[in-house]
Amino acid sequence: MADIEEIHAQAVRWIKEAGQRIIHSFETILDIETKSNMNDLVTNMDKDVEHFFIERIAERFPDHKVLGEEGSGHDLDELDGIVWIIDPIDGTMNFVHQQRNFAISIGIVENGVGKIGLIYDVVHDELYHCVKGKGAFLDEKRIEPMRDAKLEESIVGLNAIWLTDNKKIDKNITAKLVKEVRGTRSYGSAALELIYVATGRLDAYISMRLAPWDFAGGTIIIEELGGKVTDLQGNPVHYLKKSSLIAAAPKLHQIIMERYLS
Ligand code: IPD
Ligand code: CA
Ligand code: CA
Repeated sequence: MADIEEIHAQAVRWIKEAGQRIIHSFETILDIETKSNMNDLVTNMDKDVEHFFIERIAERFPDHKVLGEEGSGHDLDELDGIVWIIDPIDGTMNFVHQQRNFAISIGIVENGVGKIGLIYDVVHDELYHCVKGKGAFLDEKRIEPMRDAKLEESIVGLNAIWLTDNKKIDKNITAKLVKEVRGTRSYGSAALELIYVATGRLDAYISMRLAPWDFAGGTIIIEELGGKVTDLQGNPVHYLKKSSLIAAAPKLHQIIMERYLS
Protein backbone atom coordinates (compact mmCIF):
# COMPACT_ATOMS: atom_id res chain seq x y z
CA MET A 1 0.00 0.00 0.00
CA ALA A 2 1.30 3.46 -0.96
CA ASP A 3 2.37 5.69 1.90
CA ILE A 4 0.73 9.04 2.51
CA GLU A 5 3.71 11.10 1.22
CA GLU A 6 3.65 9.18 -2.05
CA ILE A 7 -0.11 9.76 -2.43
CA HIS A 8 0.43 13.46 -1.72
CA ALA A 9 3.23 13.75 -4.31
CA GLN A 10 1.06 12.07 -6.93
CA ALA A 11 -1.95 14.23 -6.07
CA VAL A 12 0.20 17.37 -6.48
CA ARG A 13 1.31 16.25 -9.96
CA TRP A 14 -2.23 15.39 -11.06
CA ILE A 15 -3.84 18.56 -9.72
CA LYS A 16 -1.31 20.68 -11.67
CA GLU A 17 -1.97 18.66 -14.80
CA ALA A 18 -5.73 19.03 -14.33
CA GLY A 19 -5.22 22.79 -13.92
CA GLN A 20 -3.48 22.88 -17.32
CA ARG A 21 -6.49 21.17 -18.89
CA ILE A 22 -8.72 23.89 -17.44
CA ILE A 23 -6.42 26.68 -18.65
CA HIS A 24 -6.45 25.20 -22.18
CA SER A 25 -10.25 25.06 -22.09
CA PHE A 26 -10.34 28.88 -21.99
CA GLU A 27 -9.61 28.72 -25.71
CA THR A 28 -12.55 26.40 -26.39
CA ILE A 29 -16.31 26.84 -26.32
CA LEU A 30 -17.69 25.32 -23.15
CA ASP A 31 -20.63 22.99 -23.10
CA ILE A 32 -22.74 24.37 -20.21
CA GLU A 33 -25.69 22.57 -18.62
CA THR A 34 -27.78 23.18 -15.52
CA LYS A 35 -28.29 20.70 -12.67
CA SER A 36 -30.67 21.16 -9.70
CA ASN A 37 -31.79 24.66 -10.84
CA MET A 38 -30.98 27.16 -13.57
CA ASN A 39 -28.13 28.71 -11.51
CA ASP A 40 -26.51 25.36 -10.69
CA LEU A 41 -24.10 25.02 -13.60
CA VAL A 42 -21.92 22.19 -14.83
CA THR A 43 -19.61 22.22 -17.83
CA ASN A 44 -17.81 19.62 -19.88
CA MET A 45 -14.66 20.66 -17.98
CA ASP A 46 -16.13 19.78 -14.56
CA LYS A 47 -16.80 16.30 -15.94
CA ASP A 48 -13.49 16.08 -17.81
CA VAL A 49 -11.44 16.96 -14.71
CA GLU A 50 -13.36 14.51 -12.52
CA HIS A 51 -12.80 11.72 -15.08
CA PHE A 52 -9.13 12.65 -15.30
CA PHE A 53 -8.68 11.99 -11.56
CA ILE A 54 -10.86 8.89 -11.48
CA GLU A 55 -8.93 7.23 -14.32
CA ARG A 56 -5.53 8.00 -12.84
CA ILE A 57 -6.48 7.02 -9.28
CA ALA A 58 -7.96 3.71 -10.50
CA GLU A 59 -4.77 2.92 -12.41
CA ARG A 60 -2.22 4.00 -9.78
CA PHE A 61 -4.12 3.29 -6.53
CA PRO A 62 -6.73 0.65 -7.41
CA ASP A 63 -7.77 0.15 -3.77
CA HIS A 64 -8.63 3.87 -3.28
CA LYS A 65 -12.17 5.17 -3.74
CA VAL A 66 -13.39 8.48 -5.14
CA LEU A 67 -16.29 10.66 -4.07
CA GLY A 68 -16.70 13.24 -6.83
CA GLU A 69 -19.22 16.02 -7.20
CA GLU A 70 -20.21 15.04 -10.72
CA GLY A 71 -21.05 11.52 -9.62
CA SER A 72 -18.71 9.47 -11.75
CA GLY A 73 -16.83 8.17 -8.71
CA HIS A 74 -18.00 5.52 -6.26
CA ASP A 75 -21.38 5.41 -4.60
CA LEU A 76 -20.25 5.41 -0.96
CA ASP A 77 -22.16 4.98 2.24
CA GLU A 78 -19.11 4.61 4.46
CA LEU A 79 -15.59 5.99 4.52
CA ASP A 80 -13.45 2.92 5.06
CA GLY A 81 -10.01 2.84 3.47
CA ILE A 82 -8.66 5.77 1.45
CA VAL A 83 -11.20 8.05 -0.22
CA TRP A 84 -10.42 10.98 -2.49
CA ILE A 85 -13.14 13.65 -2.15
CA ILE A 86 -12.95 15.75 -5.28
CA ASP A 87 -14.56 18.94 -6.48
CA PRO A 88 -13.18 19.21 -10.03
CA ILE A 89 -14.15 22.88 -10.29
CA ASP A 90 -15.36 24.64 -7.15
CA GLY A 91 -16.90 27.90 -8.27
CA THR A 92 -18.29 26.74 -11.61
CA MET A 93 -20.42 29.87 -11.95
CA ASN A 94 -17.24 31.96 -11.66
CA PHE A 95 -15.42 29.65 -14.07
CA VAL A 96 -18.16 30.18 -16.67
CA HIS A 97 -18.78 33.91 -16.11
CA GLN A 98 -15.38 35.19 -15.00
CA GLN A 99 -12.70 32.62 -15.91
CA ARG A 100 -11.26 33.19 -12.41
CA ASN A 101 -12.20 32.76 -8.73
CA PHE A 102 -12.51 28.98 -8.90
CA ALA A 103 -10.35 26.11 -7.65
CA ILE A 104 -9.84 22.37 -7.78
CA SER A 105 -10.43 20.97 -4.31
CA ILE A 106 -9.30 17.58 -3.04
CA GLY A 107 -9.49 16.08 0.42
CA ILE A 108 -8.03 12.61 0.96
CA VAL A 109 -9.36 10.80 4.00
CA GLU A 110 -8.37 7.49 5.54
CA ASN A 111 -11.08 5.66 7.50
CA GLY A 112 -12.94 9.00 7.77
CA VAL A 113 -9.94 11.02 9.02
CA GLY A 114 -8.59 13.84 6.83
CA LYS A 115 -4.98 13.10 5.79
CA ILE A 116 -4.22 15.26 2.74
CA GLY A 117 -5.76 18.56 1.62
CA LEU A 118 -5.17 20.28 -1.73
CA ILE A 119 -6.74 23.41 -3.13
CA TYR A 120 -5.42 24.64 -6.46
CA ASP A 121 -6.18 28.20 -7.50
CA VAL A 122 -5.64 27.42 -11.16
CA VAL A 123 -5.60 30.96 -12.58
CA HIS A 124 -3.06 32.20 -10.03
CA ASP A 125 -1.14 28.91 -10.24
CA GLU A 126 -1.19 28.72 -6.43
CA LEU A 127 -1.37 25.32 -4.79
CA TYR A 128 -2.32 25.12 -1.12
CA HIS A 129 -1.61 21.68 0.31
CA CYS A 130 -0.89 19.68 3.41
CA VAL A 131 -0.26 16.25 4.80
CA LYS A 132 -1.73 15.89 8.29
CA GLY A 133 0.92 16.53 10.92
CA LYS A 134 3.50 17.88 8.44
CA GLY A 135 2.39 21.53 8.14
CA ALA A 136 0.52 23.28 5.33
CA PHE A 137 2.12 25.00 2.36
CA LEU A 138 1.39 27.48 -0.39
CA ASP A 139 3.50 25.92 -3.13
CA GLU A 140 6.83 25.39 -1.27
CA LYS A 141 6.27 28.10 1.34
CA ARG A 142 5.05 27.04 4.77
CA ILE A 143 1.78 28.72 5.84
CA GLU A 144 1.87 30.24 9.34
CA PRO A 145 -0.50 28.79 11.97
CA MET A 146 -3.85 30.58 12.07
CA ARG A 147 -4.25 33.58 14.35
CA ASP A 148 -7.38 34.64 16.20
CA ALA A 149 -8.96 37.98 15.35
CA LYS A 150 -11.34 40.11 17.40
CA LEU A 151 -14.90 39.84 16.16
CA GLU A 152 -15.15 43.59 15.50
CA GLU A 153 -11.93 43.49 13.46
CA SER A 154 -12.78 40.40 11.47
CA ILE A 155 -13.70 39.89 7.83
CA VAL A 156 -16.23 37.13 7.37
CA GLY A 157 -16.99 35.19 4.20
CA LEU A 158 -20.77 34.96 3.84
CA ASN A 159 -23.06 34.73 0.82
CA ALA A 160 -25.70 37.50 0.68
CA ILE A 161 -28.38 34.84 0.10
CA TRP A 162 -28.26 34.17 3.89
CA LEU A 163 -29.48 37.74 4.50
CA THR A 164 -32.69 37.01 2.59
CA ASP A 165 -35.62 34.83 3.69
CA ASN A 166 -34.41 31.24 3.70
CA LYS A 167 -35.13 27.93 5.41
CA LYS A 168 -31.72 27.50 7.05
CA ILE A 169 -31.17 30.55 9.27
CA ASP A 170 -33.09 33.55 10.62
CA LYS A 171 -31.93 36.47 8.45
CA ASN A 172 -31.95 38.75 11.52
CA ILE A 173 -29.12 36.69 12.97
CA THR A 174 -26.96 37.01 9.87
CA ALA A 175 -27.85 40.73 9.59
CA LYS A 176 -26.69 41.29 13.20
CA LEU A 177 -23.42 39.48 12.45
CA VAL A 178 -22.85 41.54 9.29
CA LYS A 179 -23.34 44.77 11.27
CA GLU A 180 -20.96 43.77 14.07
CA VAL A 181 -17.96 42.53 12.09
CA ARG A 182 -15.51 44.76 10.20
CA GLY A 183 -16.59 43.49 6.79
CA THR A 184 -18.01 40.62 4.79
CA ARG A 185 -16.96 39.11 1.48
CA SER A 186 -18.39 36.53 -0.88
CA TYR A 187 -16.14 34.95 -3.50
CA GLY A 188 -18.41 32.20 -4.86
CA SER A 189 -16.01 29.33 -4.21
CA ALA A 190 -16.17 27.61 -0.83
CA ALA A 191 -12.73 26.08 -1.42
CA LEU A 192 -11.14 29.49 -1.98
CA GLU A 193 -13.04 31.00 0.95
CA LEU A 194 -11.76 28.21 3.20
CA ILE A 195 -8.20 28.70 2.02
CA TYR A 196 -8.57 32.45 2.60
CA VAL A 197 -9.50 31.62 6.20
CA ALA A 198 -6.49 29.30 6.42
CA THR A 199 -4.17 32.07 5.22
CA GLY A 200 -5.73 34.95 7.21
CA ARG A 201 -7.26 36.81 4.23
CA LEU A 202 -10.62 36.06 5.82
CA ASP A 203 -11.09 35.50 9.55
CA ALA A 204 -14.13 33.25 9.24
CA TYR A 205 -16.30 31.61 6.61
CA ILE A 206 -19.90 30.62 7.19
CA SER A 207 -22.22 28.67 4.92
CA MET A 208 -25.57 27.07 5.64
CA ARG A 209 -25.29 24.43 2.93
CA LEU A 210 -22.19 22.71 1.61
CA ALA A 211 -21.29 19.26 0.33
CA PRO A 212 -18.22 17.21 1.32
CA TRP A 213 -16.43 18.04 -1.97
CA ASP A 214 -16.85 21.77 -1.18
CA PHE A 215 -15.23 21.56 2.26
CA ALA A 216 -13.02 18.44 2.48
CA GLY A 217 -9.74 19.89 1.15
CA GLY A 218 -10.17 23.21 2.98
CA THR A 219 -11.16 21.61 6.29
CA ILE A 220 -8.07 19.39 6.32
CA ILE A 221 -5.79 22.39 5.64
CA ILE A 222 -7.49 24.63 8.22
CA GLU A 223 -7.28 21.94 10.89
CA GLU A 224 -3.60 21.42 10.09
CA LEU A 225 -3.09 25.14 10.81
CA GLY A 226 -4.88 24.99 14.17
CA GLY A 227 -8.23 26.32 12.97
CA LYS A 228 -11.66 24.94 13.74
CA VAL A 229 -14.33 23.74 11.29
CA THR A 230 -17.75 22.57 12.49
CA ASP A 231 -21.36 22.68 11.43
CA LEU A 232 -23.49 25.47 12.88
CA GLN A 233 -24.45 23.22 15.81
CA GLY A 234 -20.77 22.87 16.71
CA ASN A 235 -20.40 19.25 15.53
CA PRO A 236 -17.41 18.18 13.43
CA VAL A 237 -18.25 18.09 9.72
CA HIS A 238 -18.68 14.62 8.23
CA TYR A 239 -16.95 13.85 4.94
CA LEU A 240 -19.96 11.97 3.56
CA LYS A 241 -22.72 14.37 4.58
CA LYS A 242 -23.95 17.74 3.40
CA SER A 243 -23.93 20.29 6.20
CA SER A 244 -23.74 23.87 7.33
CA LEU A 245 -20.23 25.07 8.13
CA ILE A 246 -18.33 27.62 10.16
CA ALA A 247 -14.54 27.87 9.87
CA ALA A 248 -12.31 30.18 11.93
CA ALA A 249 -9.48 30.21 14.45
CA PRO A 250 -10.74 28.60 17.70
CA LYS A 251 -11.57 31.70 19.79
CA LEU A 252 -13.36 33.54 17.00
CA HIS A 253 -15.21 30.32 16.15
CA GLN A 254 -16.39 30.11 19.76
CA ILE A 255 -17.43 33.77 19.91
CA ILE A 256 -19.48 33.55 16.70
CA MET A 257 -21.08 30.32 17.89
CA GLU A 258 -21.99 31.75 21.30
CA ARG A 259 -23.12 35.18 20.16
CA TYR A 260 -25.12 34.28 17.05
CA LEU A 261 -25.68 30.58 16.70
CA SER A 262 -26.66 29.13 20.09
C1 IPD B 1 -20.42 25.99 -5.01
C2 IPD B 1 -19.46 27.04 -4.51
C3 IPD B 1 -20.23 28.16 -3.83
C4 IPD B 1 -21.07 27.64 -2.69
C5 IPD B 1 -22.01 26.58 -3.20
C6 IPD B 1 -21.22 25.44 -3.87
P1 IPD B 1 -19.72 24.56 -7.19
O1 IPD B 1 -19.70 24.91 -5.59
O2 IPD B 1 -18.53 26.53 -3.60
O3 IPD B 1 -19.35 29.12 -3.30
O4 IPD B 1 -21.80 28.70 -2.13
O5 IPD B 1 -22.75 26.04 -2.12
O6 IPD B 1 -22.12 24.48 -4.37
O7 IPD B 1 -21.12 24.13 -7.52
O8 IPD B 1 -19.30 25.76 -7.93
O9 IPD B 1 -18.75 23.43 -7.24
CA1 CA C 1 -18.30 23.03 -5.02
CA1 CA D 1 -17.98 21.83 -8.54
